[in-house]
Amino acid sequence: MEFTIKTGTPEKLQTGTLVVGVFAGGKLDGAALALDNAANGKLAAILARGDLDEKAGATLMLHDLKGSACERVLVVSLGKQDEFGDKAWRDAINATAKAVASGPATDAAICLADSIVPGRDAEWALQQLTRAIADGAYRFDATKSKKDEKRRGVTDVVLLTANRISAGMEVAVRRGQAIAEGMALAKDLGNLPANFCTPTYLAETALALGKQHKLKVEVLEREDMEKLGMGSLLSVARGSHQPPKFIVMRYKGAKSKDRPVVLVGKGITFDTGGISLKPGAEMDEMKFDMCGAASVLGTFKAIASIGLPLNVVGIIPATENMPGGGATKPGDVVTSMSGQTIEILNTDAEGRLILCDALTYAERFNPACVVDIATLTGACVVALGKIASGLLTNDDALARELLDSGTASGDRAWQLPLWDEYQELLKSNFADMGNIGGRFAGTITAACFLARFTKAYKWAHLDVAGTAWVSGDAKGATGRPVPLLTEFLIGRCGSAEA
Ligand code: BES
Ligand code: MN
Ligand code: ZN
Repeated sequence: MEFTIKTGTPEKLQTGTLVVGVFAGGKLDGAALALDNAANGKLAAILARGDLDEKAGATLMLHDLKGSACERVLVVSLGKQDEFGDKAWRDAINATAKAVASGPATDAAICLADSIVPGRDAEWALQQLTRAIADGAYRFDATKSKKDEKRRGVTDVVLLTANRISAGMEVAVRRGQAIAEGMALAKDLGNLPANFCTPTYLAETALALGKQHKLKVEVLEREDMEKLGMGSLLSVARGSHQPPKFIVMRYKGAKSKDRPVVLVGKGITFDTGGISLKPGAEMDEMKFDMCGAASVLGTFKAIASIGLPLNVVGIIPATENMPGGGATKPGDVVTSMSGQTIEILNTDAEGRLILCDALTYAERFNPACVVDIATLTGACVVALGKIASGLLTNDDALARELLDSGTASGDRAWQLPLWDEYQELLKSNFADMGNIGGRFAGTITAACFLARFTKAYKWAHLDVAGTAWVSGDAKGATGRPVPLLTEFLIGRCGSAEA
């Protein structure tokens, strides 16, 4: 998709779909007012009839509005002016994205970026808007026999503003687009079924991304993991015929001596539960259990195309969790790379078992901080639903950064406690720890387990079990938390980059 920012007013524009925003109450301003003037008050007259709902995100499509040279005018409600905030803005841009993604028009001019949420700025608005429009065009048809050849929807978008265009505004548009492209990669990997998206496929994707964007990518094999003593990770791979892969990616945007941010993504390409087999209902959704890994790949794509001046390492432990004849059995004790022993009381708590060895491996990069991303616990979906990712960390400043990046990007997280009192729940009679903490506080005890492997550095854990995909009719990967992670990394390097 092509995006260009232009300064101007909408009335003389010729485009397939012109998008203007209006607040509830009928008093027009900005682009809508200019258009209404050119149309001799026709727009205001139509709105006065009440066809457009006042709720933010409601839309009304007008055809051949007199006074405008555009085929269509899409009027988008911004809600009540005194309630205009992040949510109303998101509702308005998402509705716009949906409308322009499906119509016959191939070009559009969108005049929304001058309606700025109090406390935000034009750059913020443009980045969010561009991301929403580009992301709205996402389709997945890789596994359909008939491809959607007559694809409808816009490919050329003009972002119209009445103001002078600054360099920062251009940067914002490029960032919004890069984040949407990163999300698209994360969604593709998540949506691809587990008979295609194997650990080997994830490794090949990382290698291809490396070629495209000049990243250093290394793939460790089972023997390498054995030599490193990754007994915990390997115990999960034992029941599967697919070889496990341990993917290490390096993006170098700063001086070699600058400590990197390390991202670790859970890459379970299918989670049957292992011998502690999951129930059958909705088990297909466990193909999404590699969405943490996908978000690392998507974030790398975004930051490489933005060209962030920062060093970032991505680590992806990848394997299936299957109940084969060689599979780990409940009660088995394994030794992790850290030397700590683990009694595997439930083979379905496998995410933490692969992450712990990856987190120990991360120490060698002398990280500025480590963030792991994992579809780790059903308990997190119960606690936070599909709105917020769970955040647990050993560093309060890092918590603040991630929470703020979540708010700014609209890809939000919420913090849960990681107090030592919870550690007692992981007690084992036969090893240094068990891999489950019982019925209560499942998201917290999972993070407590990981915390035993992250003492050497500042670390945060994002539980994205609720946010990485949606179920039901719209089943599919969401591309989250690529926006949060990219915003976080952007925030880590000031605004020096282009
Ligand atoms: N991948 C699942 C977590 C999950 C479950 C994500 C449902 C989204 C929806 C993870 O490997 C898992 O099975 N966790 C168990 C842990 C339990 C055995 C302690 C869970 O949450 O039930
Ligand atoms: Mn599991
Ligand atoms: Zn899992």
